[in-house]
Amino acid sequence: MKFFLDTANLDELRRGAAWGIVDGVTTNPSLIAKEAKPLEEHIREICGIIYGDISAEVVSTNAPEMIVEGRRLAKIHQNVVVKCPLTRDGIVATKTLSSEGIRVNVTLCFSANQALIAAKAGAYIVSPFVGRIDDTGWNGMDLVRDILQIYRNYGFNTQVLAASLRSPTHVSQAALAGTHIATMPFKVLDLLFNHPLTDKGLAQFQNDWNKAFQPAPAGG
Ligand code: E4P
Repeated sequence: MKFFLDTANLDELRRGAAWGIVDGVTTNPSLIAKEAKPLEEHIREICGIIYGDISAEVVSTNAPEMIVEGRRLAKIHQNVVVKCPLTRDGIVATKTLSSEGIRVNVTLCFSANQALIAAKAGAYIVSPFVGRIDDTGWNGMDLVRDILQIYRNYGFNTQVLAASLRSPTHVSQAALAGTHIATMPFKVLDLLFNHPLTDKGLAQFQNDWNKAFQPAPAGG
C-alpha cells in the first residue's frame, strides 16, 4: 500500500520525506488555501520535495473549464495527477483528460456507483472519503471494500485511494481491505510509529547496555 501525505504544508512534507516512506501527496483547494501561496509555484515546490504522484485539484465547476485547468495543472510537472470532483462535469473532464494521457484522481467519492462511473471514465485513481462517511454514521471502510470488490469483478485498473483518514486504525483497516493507496494528514503518519512497548523496550536496552559498559564514576 502506498502512503500519501494529505497536506500542502511544505514543512510537513519535508519531515515526511525525510522518513523515506512517503510515496505521494494529495492536496485539495482547502489545503492549498491554508498555505496562501500561488498554486502553480506551490505544486512545483511539492514536486521537488516528494517524488511520486502529486494530486492537484481543479476549482472550475464546468467541464470545458475543468479541462483547460486540468491541462494547465498537468504541465506543471510530470508527476502531477489532476483531481476532478465526482460530478457530471467532473466525469466529462475526466474522460477527456484521461484520453489525452493525463492521469486523473476522481475525488469526493461517496458511493460504489460513483466509483464505478469514475473507473468507466478512465480515472487513474478514485478517492472515497472514509472519515467524512464515518461522520454521517455510516462505515466509510465498507465503501472502500465494496469499490475494491467491484473493480476486481470487472478488472478495472483504477487505483483505490482511501482518503479522509483520521486515525492509525483507519490506515490499518485500509491496508487490510487491500486499498492501493492511503492518504493521511502528517499527524496520522507520525502516530503510525508509536507503540509504548517499543519505547519501554528501548529504554530497557539502553539501561542494560549502560550498566554493563559505562565506566564506573571516578572515586567510586
Ligand atoms: C483527499 O484527497 C482529500 O484531500 C482529503 O483526504 C479530505 O480529508 P478530510 O475529510 O479530512 O478533509
